[in-house]
Amino acid sequence: MKGIFITFEGVEGSGKSSQVKLLEQYLQQHGYDCFVTREPGGPPISEAIRSLLLDVNNSEMVPETELLLYLASRAQHTAQWIIPALEQGKIVICDRYTDSSLAYQGGGRKLSADVINALTTFATRKLEPDITYLLDVDVEVGQQRISNRTLDRLEEESLNFHKQVRQEYLKLANRHKNRYIIIDGSLGVQEIHELIVQHIKTHIRSL
Ligand code: TYD
Repeated sequence: MKGIFITFEGVEGSGKSSQVKLLEQYLQQHGYDCFVTREPGGPPISEAIRSLLLDVNNSEMVPETELLLYLASRAQHTAQWIIPALEQGKIVICDRYTDSSLAYQGGGRKLSADVINALTTFATRKLEPDITYLLDVDVEVGQQRISNRTLDRLEEESLNFHKQVRQEYLKLANRHKNRYIIIDGSLGVQEIHELIVQHIKTHIRSL
């Protein structure tokens, strides 16, 4: 595929969304055609699934249903939006992707990584990110940052759940050194942005 697929990962309150916006602005200013999106979500079908997933009233949802819904949302998003944008040569920036399922449903909910990987290959048509920025932050710091938000179903989970999510991200980053960049999420917003820009410049030589 002609484009570049960049994903951002991290625990709640790691600052992904601000960095996605800053990177988008930077790339656009340098003449690149960017397509920014997030998971769970994207096209209408995926957004409808997102509502089911994050609704705090759905406390009866079992881990298996949760995983399949995240993957259903991703399958639609990947086929309808992400792959076509990459085929058009765009830089696609996605706030969370497959690694969120491995970290939350694998690390957090303890579903089998083999099952998640097999279903993911099916749902994504084997699409993998070219670059993944992991904003790594202490779970307590992240929780503190989101303490003024209304929490969704996943955010309501315990501190211990989120600690396992963080550990799983660090393992994934170790396993996929070719595409993972770990960034200290406790640094300032501007400082993190500059680290990302420095890295992306080595990836896209023309910048
Ligand atoms: P969102 O409001 O987008 O959170 P954030 O701003 O932290 O990205 O909610 C997404 C929630 O869904 C978040 O708690 C992580 C969770 N999630 C999974 O558990 N598995 C997944 O595969 C994805 C994509 C997200």
